[in-house]
Amino acid sequence: MKYGYFDDAKREYVITDPQTPWPWINYLGTEKFFGLISNTAGGYTFYRDAKFRRLTRYRYNNVPLDMGGRYFYINDEGTVWSPGWKPVKTPLDSYECRHGMSYTVLTGLKNGIEAEVLYFVPLGTNAEIHKVKITNTTKMNKHLRLFSFAEWCLWNAEDDMTNFQRNFSTGEVEIEGSVIYHKTEYKERRNHYAFYGVNAPLQGYDTDRDSFVGLSNDYSNPQVVTAGKPKNSVAHGWSPIASHFLDVDLNPGESKEFVFVLGYIENEEEKKWESKNVINKQKAKECLARFDTAEKVRKAMEDLRTYWDGLLDVISVKSGDEHLDRMVNIWNQYQCMVTFNMSRSASFFESGIGRGMGFRDSNQDLIGFVHQIPARARERIYDLAATQFEDGGAYHQFQPLTKRGNDAVGGNFNDDPLWLILSTTAYIKETGDFSLLDEQVPFDNDASRSRSHFEHLKASFYHVVNNLGPHKLPLIGRADWNDCLNLNCFSKDPNESFQTTENKRGGTAESVMIAGLFVVYGREFVTLCRQIGKTDEALEAQKHIDAMEKAVKEHGWDGEWYLRAYDYYGHKVGSKENEEGKIFIESQGWCTMAGIGLKEGMVTKSLDSVKQRLDTEHGIVLNNPAFTKYYIEYGEISTYPAGYKENAGIFCHNNPWIMIGETVRGRGDRAYEYWKKLSPSFRENISDLHKVEPYVYAQMIAGKDAFRPGEAKNSWLSGTASWMFYTITQFILGIRPSYNGLEIDPCIPADWKGYTVSRKFRGVTYVINIKNPDHVMKGIRSIRVDGALMEGNIIPLMPAGKSYNVEVVMG
Ligand code: BGC
Ligand code: NOJ
Repeated sequence: MKYGYFDDAKREYVITDPQTPWPWINYLGTEKFFGLISNTAGGYTFYRDAKFRRLTRYRYNNVPLDMGGRYFYINDEGTVWSPGWKPVKTPLDSYECRHGMSYTVLTGLKNGIEAEVLYFVPLGTNAEIHKVKITNTTKMNKHLRLFSFAEWCLWNAEDDMTNFQRNFSTGEVEIEGSVIYHKTEYKERRNHYAFYGVNAPLQGYDTDRDSFVGLSNDYSNPQVVTAGKPKNSVAHGWSPIASHFLDVDLNPGESKEFVFVLGYIENEEEKKWESKNVINKQKAKECLARFDTAEKVRKAMEDLRTYWDGLLDVISVKSGDEHLDRMVNIWNQYQCMVTFNMSRSASFFESGIGRGMGFRDSNQDLIGFVHQIPARARERIYDLAATQFEDGGAYHQFQPLTKRGNDAVGGNFNDDPLWLILSTTAYIKETGDFSLLDEQVPFDNDASRSRSHFEHLKASFYHVVNNLGPHKLPLIGRADWNDCLNLNCFSKDPNESFQTTENKRGGTAESVMIAGLFVVYGREFVTLCRQIGKTDEALEAQKHIDAMEKAVKEHGWDGEWYLRAYDYYGHKVGSKENEEGKIFIESQGWCTMAGIGLKEGMVTKSLDSVKQRLDTEHGIVLNNPAFTKYYIEYGEISTYPAGYKENAGIFCHNNPWIMIGETVRGRGDRAYEYWKKLSPSFRENISDLHKVEPYVYAQMIAGKDAFRPGEAKNSWLSGTASWMFYTITQFILGIRPSYNGLEIDPCIPADWKGYTVSRKFRGVTYVINIKNPDHVMKGIRSIRVDGALMEGNIIPLMPAGKSYNVEVVMG
């Protein structure tokens, strides 16, 4: 069952039924000011950091779900409704939500009145626009009462939800003209305030929640809205809100537009005040003036569209399959940009106060957006590397506001360092900018301990070499990529977190996944060293990689697949000898990507075991058989009911590793079949089962052992986005940036006839037409660039500014 449809020409998903199986959301903002918005106007806004600079209040996991938002109420002679259906939930005559690239439009029609609200954050602006257009389609004059509503959060979102003994006494506002200013704590240590204004004279307002809503009422029936009359309340403590009241008179056929602006201002210490206790509003007024007409807003919206045209123009495919094309050209790239901005901090599953920018997550996210925003990718790499330690280890996350690493969600994950090699080499291959390697980057955010970025990469590489276990495989530390494989944890206390609790000291638990990861990114390190003439470094590093391959073949192979790990006692994990958890996906992914034992048939056997034991109609599960009891020596993985999350869920992030493994083996049909299973556009028809948005990837789809196999969770903020994009574009469609040119290496289903990819790379546009007359899955017979036959499959670097036609014949 579907709840809407894709409008590819406009790059929108159009929801036609407000009662989706879960709030289907979108993200507003591309730089520093962000908003989350559901298809019924729920969500919140923040400036840079969803924990420390939360502007509006949201109630996670509430009943009913999705409480709090930037709401509008219309009182039409006693009939009260909202353009996005919620919060009033009066049945609408028609409803539509268009989620587009960094904007959302909600349109409701009731009794001949159409109300359309456009939400977006203009470029270069720390404010959200809510443009409301009301049209009278009836033949009568209409007198409507319009109320806006936003509830201020008292900045620190965690404190806001917990410290009521203080917070109920701190709230302060100012009202001037048509603007409501939120200035809680401004007179002490904050130099920022928020405002919500409209470009029309007010007939009233409210700023105190209890006065507006009424203590026993709720968002669906605020007293003031029902009565059709504002109270002009001024908040002193309790819960400050911003609600504007406008009388709207419309002749038959007439439309009126109002521009609401919800923004954030920072003032310099010495310019904080206009007069005693009156905030300096100059910057807010400047911001409001930039958007004081609907025309100006339309222009800003056009600029935003042009910005997205530019971002999405770097790579696009025409394959004849609308699902594939829209995922690659629109939604997957869009999601990658969202993960760039949010990492794992703020979604409808991530509260914005739990996690900041993850070290491993953000490094991996980079492979999904580096082609769109290389300069910002460079800055991100720098920020991440600056949280690294001299021994190569790293803080597991940093807060976006401070950019300082912290161990609030644990540390000592021994896969972390290697992902820095992935992000750095991906950046250099895309841009050719080797200068990043010479940049002086702090260790532990301490500028006096800066070394070149190359030294950071070296520290990453040797962190693995210096932390090997009894089988010469990498020690796992707290866990590897699988946060829930806590082999040194032995937790008995339900009040402690597996991620942060003290670990047993032990030099035994080893990870075969990190071994594979090390071979893949170790080789990348070696190639990079050779590129920059560090031949001795390369030779030395290669020895360690060879030794690791040997260790995997000797101690990491179980006969039909790669082992997953050795536990604290030195017992095998992910082996036929185990009763549960005999086989895991991660080591199959990394060791096949590395091609370890390719000649000996290990790669094929491993991939065939995945197909046989882990594949399902909804994707590949993480492990099998699922754990059905708690294994204290394995940790969090065995806490989840079978089929969920890391315990045999389809943990989508790792599925692409198998797809890439299949391309190493040359089996394009399997790679693409796996790709299709996860891709939301292909799953749109089963939206009622899938539950979350049909336009973005989810972190997890319930596995075959679960109660509802196929039900997805944790949409939006997942490494699935970047890995799926990387896999489809670079390994299946096979257009791969490399140091010395654009490599062409497709691995596709045999029945494909061909496809065209347009790729901008280092200032050049390539229109690459791939033909597959012999119906092969891999292999190239010829490549012609503007008619000239080429040697090999790397198109050498061409003079910038030009466009080339590339004809590729597979065979
Ligand atoms: C989840 C993991 C996540 C970790 C983050 C665990 O509870 O299962 O997916 O990576 O928390 O701290
Ligand atoms: C989600 C986390 O964000 C990521 O870092 C981790 O690798 C996966 N879960 C797997 O546990």
